[in-house]
Amino acid sequence: MSIDYSARIPNNVALSDNRRLQRALESWQPNYLRWWRELGPEGTQDSDVYLRTAISVESDGWANFGYVKMPEYRWGIFLAAPQAELTIAFGDHRGAPVWQEVPGEYRSPLRRLIVTQGDTEPASVEQQRHLGHTCPSLYDLRNLLQVNVEEGRHLWAMVYLLHAYFGRDGREEADAMLERHAGDPDKPRILGAFNEKTPHWLAFFMFTYFTDRDGKYQLATLAESGFDPLARTCQFMLTEEAHHMFVGETGIMRMVQRTCEIMNELKTDDPERIRASGVIDLPTLQRFVNFHFSVSLDLFGQERSTNAATYFTTGLKGRYHETRIEDDHRLLDTTWPVSMCKEGAIVCEEQPALLALNERLRDDYIVDCQRGLNRWNREIEKQGIDYRLMLPHRGFNRRIGAFTDVGVAPDGQVLTPDAWARQTHDWLPSDEDHAFVMSLMQPVTEPGKMASWIAPPSRGIHGQPLDFDYVKFP
Ligand SMILES: [Fe+2]
Ligand SMILES: [Fe+2]
Repeated sequence: MSIDYSARIPNNVALSDNRRLQRALESWQPNYLRWWRELGPEGTQDSDVYLRTAISVESDGWANFGYVKMPEYRWGIFLAAPQAELTIAFGDHRGAPVWQEVPGEYRSPLRRLIVTQGDTEPASVEQQRHLGHTCPSLYDLRNLLQVNVEEGRHLWAMVYLLHAYFGRDGREEADAMLERHAGDPDKPRILGAFNEKTPHWLAFFMFTYFTDRDGKYQLATLAESGFDPLARTCQFMLTEEAHHMFVGETGIMRMVQRTCEIMNELKTDDPERIRASGVIDLPTLQRFVNFHFSVSLDLFGQERSTNAATYFTTGLKGRYHETRIEDDHRLLDTTWPVSMCKEGAIVCEEQPALLALNERLRDDYIVDCQRGLNRWNREIEKQGIDYRLMLPHRGFNRRIGAFTDVGVAPDGQVLTPDAWARQTHDWLPSDEDHAFVMSLMQPVTEPGKMASWIAPPSRGIHGQPLDFDYVKFP
């Protein structure tokens, strides 16, 4: 499974043995590079960036670090190593050997899954392309660009599957990945959250904490797929995804830390005075948590979903850590508790587990999200400040599913439409919040220096010091 870096497209799938496929991907490559130049990161395309590149897919030591100009980054096709005699772990085909080719009858749902996942990858690069102009430090700029090149590689991962296994339809879908654009009124990205702007670094850290984590959960379910090339692709993508969530979690932690330091210095919890010192007050951070958490919850889809049931029954998409779950892996007569709103109150009802798979995945996700909040709250507590960040109720601010159009307060109280309208500005970032955050976004590009609103990280990248030249401008 070693990676061939001498090829035009680095890969560990013996691409040179399949000339047709190789040629098809080589003709997609210039379109990808054009897209990267036009809609990838702004202002840093000719900079030398200290990036990691995959050199193997083994769990230890898979990365190489060095300066790269991003358009020369070696994007390629890397799949986790195959396992011998692997069988499908769930659904009607449980126990049968995993598929190395697409089963004809599942061709279109499988393609839809791959296209939907693939579309999110370049979307986030587009959403984040302006952020380089306002980086809080070179360390953070480098992390942003690392996330961006890896999202680009994730697009390569999905495009490979489309080209290799879906013939002409797959090639057309691969082209369409570069034709839809985040926020484009005529050809938007497929999922709502991937058409929103990422206007500033607070939104970026929230996005990488909450929305990349949705990505982790979607990839984890596809990593269980009975279609082995998809499973192995996603297994390797997950190792890259971990860094994206690290960027979000530590970014928010460093903001919390800096804000608490200022609160202690000034001995105040007055948001106006805190803001006047050039940091983001905790209630504002809470409003951004509320927003990004709720839009990310929508990405899991309807609570009851026959599509999700079909994906599971047919062996295309499993549950989170499917093989570690102890049950029959078919879910024919089990139930799962699902929250919904009935007659003005939130109730929890047992639903057929097979139909509730989206909700189950959302449950796993919520538990995972809470871990970061616990860490941020420990920092607030350590600094002796009486404030705690909280995840809002799952029904808060939803656009998809049972809570759409129901006014649910962060604490789970169901509100009248009037009461909801009166209080949303306490709970969601206002235009004024955004304007304030934007006012802080002044670029800091001197090695080792940090913007006023964020504490330095506890360590540098790959053992380098904090004042390392992570990005060298031409
Ligand atoms: Fe990704
Ligand atoms: Fe990501």
